[in-house]
Amino acid sequence: MITGSRFVRSLCGVAFVFALGGVAQATEDSPQVDYMLRCQGCHVGDGSGYPGKVPDLRVSMPALLGSVEGREFLLRVPGASLSVLDNAQLARVYNWMVDEFLPGGAPTGFVPFDAAEVERARTRPLADVNAVRIPLAAAAGIPTVY
Ligand code: HEC
Repeated sequence: MITGSRFVRSLCGVAFVFALGGVAQATEDSPQVDYMLRCQGCHVGDGSGYPGKVPDLRVSMPALLGSVEGREFLLRVPGASLSVLDNAQLARVYNWMVDEFLPGGAPTGFVPFDAAEVERARTRPLADVNAVRIPLAAAAGIPTVY
């Protein structure tokens, strides 16, 4: 018969193994893990967001990447520019999102983001996102509300 304390000890063992698994995964150095830990809570796993609250990156990223201002806007939104991720990590997350979320992957001629570009943009985080986003979205032909 399994006693109460043995049962607790075996549960602890299981919890320990799960905890180790979690640490191994969370400390893995990859843009996907950075996205999961720092962005996914709002943008969800496939970038589709929440209607009315968080824009669908699968729609807005390909459209806004098409202009210099749009590309810069994507880096200046508060969730990204004020993130704890450093410039190189953030650049890597953006390049990963382009590959993962854009239907068909990175567009032809896509120039990958780098740390210097991220740094230039994030030193000017957006205070009023919609004042900048609405005209950019209209010009790119995507809905101005999400
Ligand atoms: C707390 C929720 C939250 C987190 C965390 C977050 N975002 Fe966002 N994100 C938003 C919201 C809401 C918007 C819409 C603009 C706004 O109000 O800031 C947005 C907009 C964006 C946009 C512009 C898309 C568009 O269509 O306008 C990009 C790109 C983006 N976020 C990337 C990121 C990245 C990369 C991370 C992680 C480093 C991140 N966000 C973390 C909530 C979040």
